Amino acid sequence: MQNSSDDSGVKVAMFDTKTYDKEYFDKLNPQKIQLRTIAASLNEQTVDLAKGCEVVCIFVNDKCDANTVMALEKIGVRLIALRCAGFNNVDLEACKRHNISVVRVPEYSPHAVAEHSVALMMMLNRQLHKAYMRNRAGQYVLDGLVGFDMFGKTVAVLGTGKIGACVIEILSGFGCKILAYDKYPNPRLGEMSNVDYTSIENIISAADIITLHIPLSDESKHIINDAAIGKMKRGVMLINTSRGGLVDTSALIRGLKTGIIGSAGLDVYEEEANIFFHDISNQVLNDEVFARLTTFNNVIITSHQAFLTQEALSNIAETTIENILEYAAGKRFDELSNSVVC
Ligand code: NAI
Repeated sequence: MQNSSDDSGVKVAMFDTKTYDKEYFDKLNPQKIQLRTIAASLNEQTVDLAKGCEVVCIFVNDKCDANTVMALEKIGVRLIALRCAGFNNVDLEACKRHNISVVRVPEYSPHAVAEHSVALMMMLNRQLHKAYMRNRAGQYVLDGLVGFDMFGKTVAVLGTGKIGACVIEILSGFGCKILAYDKYPNPRLGEMSNVDYTSIENIISAADIITLHIPLSDESKHIINDAAIGKMKRGVMLINTSRGGLVDTSALIRGLKTGIIGSAGLDVYEEEANIFFHDISNQVLNDEVFARLTTFNNVIITSHQAFLTQEALSNIAETTIENILEYAAGKRFDELSNSVVC
């Protein structure tokens, strides 16, 4: 943990800080922000690490449930600044009750996440993970590595916001047919000759590849469950770079075992908080469901890495600093440009 010695400026406790976060924040941080970088994640037990700070700056796996929010208020925290777009880990009602404003980075690089989603598709399709391992071992044989042309394949894109739209644009370059589903369809995408908006049932049952880009909410939790998997084409590829909770992992495992799900590329996992972003190579993996998932050779897992590009890190630091400076200038709640309101 680091403390700035200067006593001026708004004091910010940045939880879950990695070396790359510090590098990009240090590059852009004006003198007006005193940053205390903390390696630990924020939760009820670690709140006190923020004592003396008005602002906590958090990421995807910091947990701001009702008890944590109450404890934050007690130590004088008045702003939660998310360094990400999703805010499913923050109890917004509790923040309102405890007079704490919440801001986020609504867009830092939809391209980063979209390109990673397509990278997972291509890696699974052309079995690059197996080819890499084989070639390292001197096994220059091709049996079992047969892929498919992306051209002409049908891809279901669930969620056509900023990231989903980028995915559609990239896949259109491949010549894919897109079946799109969103509560609020994007007319610009709807006009593309290869894009059809339709119901979730239709897209799930017709797709060769399904890719998830809707936020996690009570409504979308486990949108991919046994019932949805039961409607899918045999051998479908599932990509999830959004939030782990969109997929019922036990149902996914059943789908993989029966072969309905032919392959899966996952950048998120519903119980990722104690696994992703940590080096657990010297520990026993206690999560039985995750352990089972890692045994499939047609599953690729990356540990919430989709956002991790130079451009995204720079944008995250820039917008977070702007958010905090707006707060320091006296703005609160929905006066803040990137306020999250419940
Ligand atoms: P966005 O807000 O631009 O788009 C989300 C879209 O989903 C909107 O068009 C919305 O109408 C639609 N939607 C919301 N709930 C829905 C529902 N229940 N059914 C149908 N459509 C629904 O968000 P953006 O920037 O495209 O990000 C999408 C998600 O990607 C984020 O919520 C976040 O969870 C995830 N993400 C993952 C990252 C990673 O590193 N793996 C990084 C950044 C975001």
